[in-house]
Amino acid sequence: MNDLSRPGTIDPPYDYPDYGSTRLRAPREALVALPEGTLDVPGPRVPASFVRAGDNDLTAHAKSAPLGEKMIVSGRLLDESGRPIRDSLVEIWQANAAGRYAHPGDTHDAPLDPNFQGIGRTFTDADGWYRFVTIKPGAYPWQNHAFAWRPQHIHFSLLGNAPVQRLVTQMYFPGDPLLDLDPVFLSVPDAAARKRLVAALDLKTGVEGIALGYRFDIVLAGARSTPLGI
Ligand SMILES: [Fe+2]
Repeated sequence: MNDLSRPGTIDPPYDYPDYGSTRLRAPREALVALPEGTLDVPGPRVPASFVRAGDNDLTAHAKSAPLGEKMIVSGRLLDESGRPIRDSLVEIWQANAAGRYAHPGDTHDAPLDPNFQGIGRTFTDADGWYRFVTIKPGAYPWQNHAFAWRPQHIHFSLLGNAPVQRLVTQMYFPGDPLLDLDPVFLSVPDAAARKRLVAALDLKTGVEGIALGYRFDIVLAGARSTPLGI
């Protein structure tokens, strides 16, 4: 029988003091254990029409190409046995190449890019693969502590095929010196699990002369689970 559990050192704790906002949002009371099946409520499935052609190309959502280093991020969504999770909604959001989000709440002193909204979606295919065309996001300051800058990262939302299943995580880039200083990344207790949040440079998934490829597989259960809740 497969191990469906997620070892306790993989996902970050609700309260991680060095990550300031967790102090405000972490539950102060003991969690209430829900009976098994409580969340198995009927809900809408994600219709195939939810994803339109081109939604997975974040560089093609405006009149011109966005500024920045074009890249491909692709990988497989897998269960604890390495089996593909098919037809599953994967969405990403990210800052632009200057490290700014296209959101009124982002007041970072960096330019917006009128050709980059920083959001995309796709379904996994029959082998569990997803693929996005985008640009490499910039690092940005986030005021958690003095000189706090988030490492370059892409946010992932995994909706499965129904809204009550939503999971989130973040993907990072290899060799980023900010990783060792980032409380969000460091809030994942297990060092080996943290490494699973770092994509691998994968030339064969890039486009020759156009875009570098990064590979980021996401494992949803078992000892090699990708950290979630980040
Ligand atoms: Fe972010």
